[in-house]
Amino acid sequence: PALLTSFHSYLLTPNLRILVVIGAGLSAASGLATFRGAGGHWRNFDAMTIATPEAFNADPGFVWQFYQMRRRAAFAAKPNPAHYALAEAAKRCRDFLAASQNVDGLSRRAGHPEDKIEYIHGNLSTLSCFQGMDYGGFVESCGWKAEDQTQDLPIPDEGVVPREMIPKCPNCKTGLQRPGVVWFGESLDEKVMDRIQDWLEVQGPSLCLVVGTSGRVYPAAAYAKAVKKRGGKVAVVDIEDRGAEEGADWSFVGDAAVVVPEILKPLMERPEVV
Ligand code: APR
Repeated sequence: PALLTSFHSYLLTPNLRILVVIGAGLSAASGLATFRGAGGHWRNFDAMTIATPEAFNADPGFVWQFYQMRRRAAFAAKPNPAHYALAEAAKRCRDFLAASQNVDGLSRRAGHPEDKIEYIHGNLSTLSCFQGMDYGGFVESCGWKAEDQTQDLPIPDEGVVPREMIPKCPNCKTGLQRPGVVWFGESLDEKVMDRIQDWLEVQGPSLCLVVGTSGRVYPAAAYAKAVKKRGGKVAVVDIEDRGAEEGADWSFVGDAAVVVPEILKPLMERPEVV
């Protein structure tokens, strides 16, 4: 309809700069639970007893049992047409950056170019070292990280898990291995934040495409308004009508797996940019 036609013509603006903000709704069609909608993780668990360094410090086994389930689900899931459409659009637009809040690895598995996406909340296939909370309540770690680690940890799926059963950091031998995802209260990677901030500062016609996020968690929740403030436009794709909340110029209501390929179609005709 008219909405799609006007979006498609804006997509063809010369030198358009695109920032995509990605949330759990992008992976819903791949069968992965979101956080706050029906069946969402935070409907079944209290985030503060699971997704914080304090929670891990208090009961690492309980937290690992939650992340072990999510790791298995994510590694068994398949990218859906929206992951592929975003990956193909990224290959065809010179100035394209995705800020993904998702840790499920599906954008990577859809072939999304690594230099055109930032995984701002980490990845479930990453493990890192947790030495505990220092006096300032900051997590200490030796800096060890393991990427692409997808096999199960030797932790039972239920029952109390004694601390000694949690695998130790192979580097410092004192820290515990933890999921390589950002928890509430933890800071995001500085250089990732700087890269997105730099992207926002550069002038020129721009578009913020918000896909499948409830806009509850910062800094990702602020990007659409930042683009709008600098004269850019905002498009929202969500199963609910979230357009008004984001001050969107276009609000596409539906399953991302169906809507995203449709709205990005004009970009697919372009050659890949090297
Ligand atoms: N297609 C499009 N959007 C969908 C679909 C779908 N099939 N299914 C659900 N949605 C939308 C919901 O309407 C909601 O707006 O996706 C959004 C999911 O919101 P949340 O569950 O809050 O997930 P998200 O916004 O990604 O959470 C952000 O919160 O817990 C932290 O770190 C975690 O990265 C996560 C962050």
